[in-house]
Amino acid sequence: MKVILFGATGMVGQGVLRECLLDPDVEHVLVVGRSPTGQQHAKLREILHEDFFDFSAIESELIGYDACFFCLGVSSVGMDAQRYRHLTYDLTMATATTLARLNSAMVFTYVTGRGTDSTEQGPRMWARVKGKTENDLLKLPFKAAYMFRPAAIQPLHGVRSKTAWVQAIYVLASPLFARLARTSPKYVTTTERVGRAMISVARDGYPKPVLESEDINRF
Ligand SMILES: NC(=O)c1ccc[n+]([C@@H]2O[C@H](COP(=O)([O-])OP(=O)(O)OC[C@H]3O[C@@H](n4cnc5c(N)ncnc54)[C@H](OP(=O)(O)O)[C@@H]3O)[C@@H](O)[C@H]2O)c1
Repeated sequence: MKVILFGATGMVGQGVLRECLLDPDVEHVLVVGRSPTGQQHAKLREILHEDFFDFSAIESELIGYDACFFCLGVSSVGMDAQRYRHLTYDLTMATATTLARLNSAMVFTYVTGRGTDSTEQGPRMWARVKGKTENDLLKLPFKAAYMFRPAAIQPLHGVRSKTAWVQAIYVLASPLFARLARTSPKYVTTTERVGRAMISVARDGYPKPVLESEDINRF
């Protein structure tokens, strides 16, 4: 598979990149980001890009891919609803619409989170925005699209969050997460499992379009 990865410098994306570089079924990884990963690998190519609402300058480089693993995302904590929607719904749809037009055979995976609101009507702002994003991604003309809804994610293999408070929580709660990852698959998964699950569903499909933590932990 040839894969495009967004958000490769973040906690989820670092984990997904690691699994892509290790997996023999992934032949090539194109990372599109606004900052470099700092990694070198024979399978890896990076494009630094500033405007995630306009890909016209690099469109010709985004053709011919089998999968997109979209791990880019922001926390809603301390952010007003309009900005959160812009950086979540608008940015994701701008990227996905471009990719669907250029790659009709592409499988698209998107990371939301446990509690995402498919009705778009519930009380939590972040969950409504993620729900609308999921719903509209599923309408795009990809070969298939899969929505990943992990609860907590234990970072493994040196992966770190870009968000300082998230990283602090993971450092403090690391022993608890390690235990919960083994005993409570509904509530905790790992960066390794998220990466392996994305590769598997892109290659083999999955019986349903929305994967909760317990689905992710099957891989
Ligand atoms: N971490 C968790 O435990 C967890 C659990 C459930 C769901 N999720 C979801 O997973 C997604 C990723 O989370 P994460 O923990 O990996 O976040 P993170 O560590 O904060 O990383 C965010 C990634 O998104 C990129 N990004 C953010 N805003 C951008 C923008 N405006 N333009 C271009 N790139 C941008 C960052 O790039 P830069 O390096 O350039 O900043 C980075 O690669 C989020 O939607 C989050 O809600 C996370």
